[in-house]
Amino acid sequence: MAIERLVEPTASESTDEERIEITLRPVSFDEYIGQEHLKNNLKLAIDAVKKRSDGSTLDHILLYGPPGLGKTTMAGVIAHELGASLRVTSGPAIERAGDLASILTNLKDGDVLFIDEIHRLRRAVEEVLYSAMEDYKLDIVIGKGPAARSVRLDLPHFTVIGATTRTGSLAGPLRDRFGIIHRLEYYKEPEIEQIINRTAGILKTKIQPDATELLATRSRLTPRIANRLFKRVRDYADVNGDGIVDVEIARDALKLMEIDFLGLDPADRNMLQLMWDNYGDRPVGLTTIAALTGDEATTIEDYYEPYLLQLGLLARTPRGRMVTEKGRKHLQNPENKL
Ligand code: ADE
Repeated sequence: MAIERLVEPTASESTDEERIEITLRPVSFDEYIGQEHLKNNLKLAIDAVKKRSDGSTLDHILLYGPPGLGKTTMAGVIAHELGASLRVTSGPAIERAGDLASILTNLKDGDVLFIDEIHRLRRAVEEVLYSAMEDYKLDIVIGKGPAARSVRLDLPHFTVIGATTRTGSLAGPLRDRFGIIHRLEYYKEPEIEQIINRTAGILKTKIQPDATELLATRSRLTPRIANRLFKRVRDYADVNGDGIVDVEIARDALKLMEIDFLGLDPADRNMLQLMWDNYGDRPVGLTTIAALTGDEATTIEDYYEPYLLQLGLLARTPRGRMVTEKGRKHLQNPENKL
């Protein structure tokens, strides 16, 4: 059985959490903390389009990187800065070429179309998207059999923002349609602290600096996780204290959530432990790890692995993944016995 995780960097599906997440989302570049390199590049591209004012549109943009780092948020910011409307969809949501055709024909000039998990688009849909992105034309086939004929429709000039956790699984021709390709990086700890303080301000909760610092070290350098931990700690402070988040409250709440000092949760530690117990420091294949933990291989690849690799607790080799010396030490550190 896979373990349900508080530190899961996927967007929450519970409506209440989703609502809070939306209120916390920065709207403009000024409000968006971190990703400075990406912001500078995007600002330049947007300013250039605005200055030209000849009806030209922003190049299609591909954002990639681990989940929870703000790809959707950044798409909203880009649309806002352009003064454009944002239409949001995802690779798996577009089942047939006809679904894409209806989305595209409903866009207006200058609109931004955000496609999350773009690597999961079906091949037939992807092919329609190529020509739409390339020359704003939509080729559709009307009728069946010998009577079938193809018509070419003009589309509005729109900008696609594609988001993916892996560029590797994006077909070459699709990747080539993006003029701007950027990786979102893990945030720096001081940036996560700023995000936590901003969230505390919006949710009208007092948090002491050492508590912010502690939470930032446990947030896997990921804003979505920082905000989620903050909300749980705030609940704890409301129930067990006077609502002010101090370092003791934060420490107790994290202990209750079983988040260790590197931000790992029971599911991470369980995976590392199973790998270590069964394979020691030898490499092990992804599907075997998935069988050990009861997760999908893609869950391991997209959600567990990136942060464990970033920390150096796990290594990828041509023959599989292995627990590093640092990973072994982390597992055996008595401080992690929460
Ligand atoms: N909330 C989530 N991500 C954020 C970011 N990058 N900047 C400000 N607030 C955020």
